[in-house]
Amino acid sequence: MREYRIAAIPGDGIGTEVIGAGLEVLRALEKRDGGFRLAVEHLPWGSDYYRRNGRMMPENGLELLKGVDAIYFGAVGDPGLPDHVTLWGLRLAICQGFDQYANVRPARLLPGIPGPLRAVKPAEFDWIIVRENTEGEYSGAGGRVHRGLPEEVGLDVAVFTRTGVERIMRFAFALAGARPRKRLTVVTKSNAQRHGMVLWDDVLAELRGDYPDIAMDKMLVDAMTTRMVLKPETLDVVVATNLHADVLSDLAAALSGSLGIAPTANLNPERKFPSMFEPIHGSAFDIAGRGIANPLGSFWTAAMMLEHLGEKAAAGRLMGAIERTTGEGKFLTPDLGGRATTREVTDAVCRAIAGDNS
Ligand code: IPM
Ligand code: MG
Repeated sequence: MREYRIAAIPGDGIGTEVIGAGLEVLRALEKRDGGFRLAVEHLPWGSDYYRRNGRMMPENGLELLKGVDAIYFGAVGDPGLPDHVTLWGLRLAICQGFDQYANVRPARLLPGIPGPLRAVKPAEFDWIIVRENTEGEYSGAGGRVHRGLPEEVGLDVAVFTRTGVERIMRFAFALAGARPRKRLTVVTKSNAQRHGMVLWDDVLAELRGDYPDIAMDKMLVDAMTTRMVLKPETLDVVVATNLHADVLSDLAAALSGSLGIAPTANLNPERKFPSMFEPIHGSAFDIAGRGIANPLGSFWTAAMMLEHLGEKAAAGRLMGAIERTTGEGKFLTPDLGGRATTREVTDAVCRAIAGDNS
């Protein structure tokens, strides 16, 4: 029996609901497969933990997580606490502490979920956005001086390192090479940002020759938004900075039908540290506790986690079950224009897994 240690951190808001649903689906897969077992540790970290303990996770949180095979994460963000405190205290602390530099965000059309782009066929909209995940605009470098005075200054310094840029580009080229269309679009803003973004261009020029079989093109981030809407079929793998890809991936999720279905992997590709898997939708306090959160983002995320663990058959089975369920048309939550509850979608996906005789 193959056994994996999983740390489940549901976090805030709908995080609890969708991670709970995801763990049920994972149990159904375990049962169906029979070859692997997930030993799940439940970690109640997040904003409530902060209210009790003055921090988002224990001081030795990273130490506690170090030995697990993967982290299954819900969301952070609480209306009663400053977002930058909750985020830097947990999610970003894990991404940076575990050098999870490759943030992988697939977006595509699932059966039964049309999305707002009328002209595009499902086979033409199949993207993976690779987001640099440890530096750039999210480096955390900067400061505030002269607080409260008219001369007050706030600085957020975007930090780009040759190592950081090169490794994310090589990751994206390799990912593009493993896909049928072998296309990579490199996004920057090097017309306006003349230092770090030009470093991206320089590094790209240097390593481009190592990937002769990849069709590569470059886009400025503003033009990229129009291309995503008007020519979605021309895109395959996209690589961009931390902030640019943050914005583009929300657009990608909306174009694929809803933020509620979009998954993420925060990878440490060298596997020196555990990687972390999370739906991208966030804590969504407006619908928390109502039982209507879309669990599909968390299911798709679970499929990415299984893939990372090497359980490819189970990952494929889960994606198949998701697609059969959305294809039926009646198990769509309100964000997708339906009326199904988290419970109903979860049960439907579990049934699809149990009934999968492949
Ligand atoms: C995301 C989110 C986060 C980010 C927020 C919650 C800090 O928007 O995962 O895309 O910007 O990284
Ligand atoms: Mg985002």
